[in-house]
Amino acid sequence: MADQNTAEHAIALMPRGGPDATWLDRLLQTNRLEYTDRDDVSDEIKQRVIAGLDAIGDRTGLHEQHARTALQVVADIANPRILEIGAGHGRLSQQILQLHPSATVTASDLDPTSVAKMAAGPLGSNPRARTQVIDATAIDAADASYDLVVFALAFHHLPPAAACWAIAEATRVASRFLVIDLRRESPLGILLMPIAMLPMSLAVMPPSSIQPTLHDGVISSLRAYSPSALVTLGKAAHPKMTIEFLQPPHIGFGLRPITAVFSGPQHT
Ligand SMILES: C[S@@+](CC[C@H](N)C(=O)[O-])C[C@H]1O[C@@H](n2cnc3c(N)ncnc32)[C@H](O)[C@@H]1O
Repeated sequence: MADQNTAEHAIALMPRGGPDATWLDRLLQTNRLEYTDRDDVSDEIKQRVIAGLDAIGDRTGLHEQHARTALQVVADIANPRILEIGAGHGRLSQQILQLHPSATVTASDLDPTSVAKMAAGPLGSNPRARTQVIDATAIDAADASYDLVVFALAFHHLPPAAACWAIAEATRVASRFLVIDLRRESPLGILLMPIAMLPMSLAVMPPSSIQPTLHDGVISSLRAYSPSALVTLGKAAHPKMTIEFLQPPHIGFGLRPITAVFSGPQHT
């Protein structure tokens, strides 16, 4: 019990750059929350961020690329059952349905407003789609009820202990858990992030989305996990967890996602 408490404590305190992060990397992280995670921020502001992310994904082809990556992970399954958590606008789930003739999706988010908007849009009328409010750290679904759980551009929202729970939960309800997230940059890259994001933000986002999306983007870059942090979280969720890093095609615009697939021991 004491050992378990010590291990949980070590995970909770793990730097975003992983256990071996340099002192400079450790300085460049924050517990500050993004607008989309704050109870004191209006739904209107949160939805401006979601609209900004939707616009970036549309313009850069990220929605489609993420859907192709998800389908690649379940290429061996004829009729894949996919749960998207932290779906926000739901465009990744929509793309999956467009690209695959028989996949079924559950598009979910912690935020009921986002889920209501997804339900009122194309996902709500697609017979192969469901929408649901789901917390990534306590997934309301039976064991092995999906083939894949996918979490795009959202894993960094979870602090380490919660991130570890999310891995355990996703690999309980599905054979595989695909995390696509911001790559943790070098300290210089983190410092230059606002400058790097500005031109694309001005070019592609609705004006009302620019400030809140930049705000959340800067915090995201400080909260992004490194590959060694993802491995440490996966092994803490289960010592026999397999973590594989994929190399999706580089799409430009300075966007460099990190893509990891977690498989629990019962599935390897
Ligand atoms: C940056 S947005 C990403 C939206 C979308 N996946 C994308 O790729 O653009 C992060 C999303 O994660 C959701 N989120 C944050 N914490 C969550 C949790 N514990 N469980 C489920 N969703 C969560 C937020 O509500 C938000 O919609």
